[in-house]
Amino acid sequence: MSYFIGLDIGTSAAKALLCDQDGKIIAIAQQKYPLYSPQPLWSEQNPSDWWQGSIHAIQQLLAQSAISPLQVAGIGLTGQMHGSVFLDREDQVIRPALLWNDQRTVAECDQITAAVGYERLIEIAGNPALTGFQAPKILWLRNHEPYHYERLAKVLLPKDYIRFMLTSEFASDCSDAAGTLLLDLNKRDWSAELLQTLDLPREWFPTVYEGSQITGRLLPSVAKTLGLPAGVPVVAGGGDNAAAAVGTGIVCSGLVSSSIGTSGVVFAHSDKIRLDPKGRLHTFCHAVPGKNHLMAVTLSAGNSLRWLRDLFRSSASNLNGAEDLALSYESMTAQAARVPPGAEGLIFLPYLTGERTPHLDPLATGAFVGLTARHTAAHLVRAVMEGVTFSLRDGFEIMHDLQVPIDQVRAIGGGGKSSFWCQLQADIFGSEVVNLAVEEGPAYGAALLAIAADQDAAGVTQVSEACVKTTNMHHPQSAHVERYNQLYAIYRELYPVLRENMHKLSHFAVG
Ligand code: XUL
Repeated sequence: MSYFIGLDIGTSAAKALLCDQDGKIIAIAQQKYPLYSPQPLWSEQNPSDWWQGSIHAIQQLLAQSAISPLQVAGIGLTGQMHGSVFLDREDQVIRPALLWNDQRTVAECDQITAAVGYERLIEIAGNPALTGFQAPKILWLRNHEPYHYERLAKVLLPKDYIRFMLTSEFASDCSDAAGTLLLDLNKRDWSAELLQTLDLPREWFPTVYEGSQITGRLLPSVAKTLGLPAGVPVVAGGGDNAAAAVGTGIVCSGLVSSSIGTSGVVFAHSDKIRLDPKGRLHTFCHAVPGKNHLMAVTLSAGNSLRWLRDLFRSSASNLNGAEDLALSYESMTAQAARVPPGAEGLIFLPYLTGERTPHLDPLATGAFVGLTARHTAAHLVRAVMEGVTFSLRDGFEIMHDLQVPIDQVRAIGGGGKSSFWCQLQADIFGSEVVNLAVEEGPAYGAALLAIAADQDAAGVTQVSEACVKTTNMHHPQSAHVERYNQLYAIYRELYPVLRENMHKLSHFAVG
């Protein structure tokens, strides 16, 4: 029997997962590391923390499992997208990495849009310039830290820095590379036009591979530290969303996942490149060779429900002198289930931390509209869950406009674990929603990509389809679908009407 490791360089931890050649999970280990925000809007991590975290996670993984390390036949990599690791000519890290949620590059985004042109940028790279992406971060270094910029010799994405440490190879995969804003989606390689227009040398960027290609082999010194044999193949892998899609079977046309975690992501496989001229959806390469995907992002999805739970908990603690720890998501959901669909005329806009899809508006804010003295805490919970789900539907609507086929929705993340929220999704999306037997996120997908690399004949699609099993199915209930269609039409009208006042109110925010 052969075994495979998936390694995920997440934002909060390095997670390592071991599975056998049939995709059965044997062990999981993780090592947390800090995130720094030395100035408002900044979000940084030390690549050396990722490296130490990866070593510990893999060592723990092997210690937990009873297998012989000699049976490990491949390592697949995944991680947080968009981050920038800057290396000098001696391959040393120049400064902490800027992360996907760093917001310091507004001026550099404008600079890129002005230099390339909004439409042309979407035509080549599939997306408009967004603050989180890698390209504006490189321009920020040039504009703000020229003493660092003049030492620059290589720019890597987070997981590709770990690849370099494991193998000494400079390599990436197309799904993650697409999140830099410098990849030509059609060629699945760096865009000569974008690099030239932005005056960035091609040599700074790694070689781009498809997700299941071998990019190098484990160095003997590193292998010794990890407790693995030297020469184990390290496979390209994918950005965290694309790898997670391989791990949830979103590998062929018609399949879409709806993930409700802190943020919400609607992820669709697409055989061909489909561009939203308004840039509201991300279009990236998939980790499935030659394929693409579309992605809609709701910034505060589960985070909206957490906000409400924490609000209720802290008011209970103020009133009773002790925190109401009994208030759980389960009890909140049970309360919400007793309220009729539409929360008796109450609608929630979930823009608590601004919004990406469809508004691309960092100043958008949350709102309850339709509030009356009749409404109870349970109505608020239901309205929050419905509002988050309406926001995910916004992503589905743009996908419909772009003619992306949607035959089945797979509910994943915290939202997928609640059968109430799965049924709500079926009713609001008007589609069947299914659950998965096992869901282990990006690390599992990275391990499946390593299996595909090992089994020459098997494609990523075949491996993923063989390993991922669906369970419960939630069918849309026609009476609810009709009601939610009417409410969604109202929901859509609210943001354009409130936008100007949301922006005016943002001037009153303190801090
Ligand atoms: C995707 C995105 C996040 C990061 C961190 O566009 O910004 O999902 O990959 O997980």
